[in-house]
Amino acid sequence: MNGNLLSTSDLDREGIDEILEVADRMAEINSRRIPRVPALRGRTVVSLFFEDSTRTRISFETAAKRLSADVMGFSVGTSSVKKGESVRDTIETIEAMGVDAIVVRHGSSGVPEMVARWARSAVVNAGDGWHSHPTQALLDAYTIRARFGSLEGLRIGIVGDVLHSRVARSDIEVFTELGARVTLVAPPTLLPPSLEPWEVSVSHDLDEVLPDLDVCYLLRMQRERMTEALIPSLREYTALYGLTARRLANMEPTAVVMHPGPMNRGVEIADEVAESPRALVTDQVANGVAVRMAVLYLLLGPGRDALGPVVELAEEAT
Ligand code: NCD
Repeated sequence: MNGNLLSTSDLDREGIDEILEVADRMAEINSRRIPRVPALRGRTVVSLFFEDSTRTRISFETAAKRLSADVMGFSVGTSSVKKGESVRDTIETIEAMGVDAIVVRHGSSGVPEMVARWARSAVVNAGDGWHSHPTQALLDAYTIRARFGSLEGLRIGIVGDVLHSRVARSDIEVFTELGARVTLVAPPTLLPPSLEPWEVSVSHDLDEVLPDLDVCYLLRMQRERMTEALIPSLREYTALYGLTARRLANMEPTAVVMHPGPMNRGVEIADEVAESPRALVTDQVANGVAVRMAVLYLLLGPGRDALGPVVELAEEAT
């Protein structure tokens, strides 16, 4: 990861496999009665969220705490950013307090890269604009691997608002790197103008694609990022692309449904589908903690070789 995790395009197959393998060890820690090891004791992780988040922020903070790091939360809404302080000054202020990692989310693409240029600490991208959301893609890959054993040869449909979605961009990169065959399913107006350099196929017909999928990955309709009318109406979108119970019944019995959250129930996903055991949404959330522990450990911890002794150290023994 070269000291930072900024984008999925920086990760090759070996790098992804390493994170997923370390995440397996972290998942084992999370299953303990006291899910905490002293791997990052004395290290400080700050979460710097310029954009709203529920699960990603709590997930990173939980991950850091389970590794015994100190965690500083920074809410833009109650900070001097509201008084006009720049991102650069904010970073300098935070670094002066002595931190080891900055987890940053921002509405503009490229901000984590800029932060990494200014900061001495490790920088982890928790989602920037439409660009990248690397830990989401890693936890999605982890979840699929946990269910199917491997992504090699799996058929994954990514359905919906690909145009505005950093999750889609990162998922495409990680899923194809791990050998999956990805089909984007969306109306033409919700696809990026160019799909290069991705190796994906495209369909505008969900009903045609569904019976062939192992994984149907639904994206949230990102209404806050839509500045123009790209679909006639949400009702029409749902009629063509919403995953309803009827559509779920046309999928293979072993096929699963995923969604990064937050879900727009009744738009891209019907209530019955969200509640169905075929939906892995809560697995995704749980696995997110293990994957983020792995990322923080690999960036800040004593190294891969020390992992064995570190994970053996139960909280009671420390
Ligand atoms: C996503 C995000 O913020 O990029 N959510 C998440 O991190 N779980 C997806 C979204 O907002 O649609």
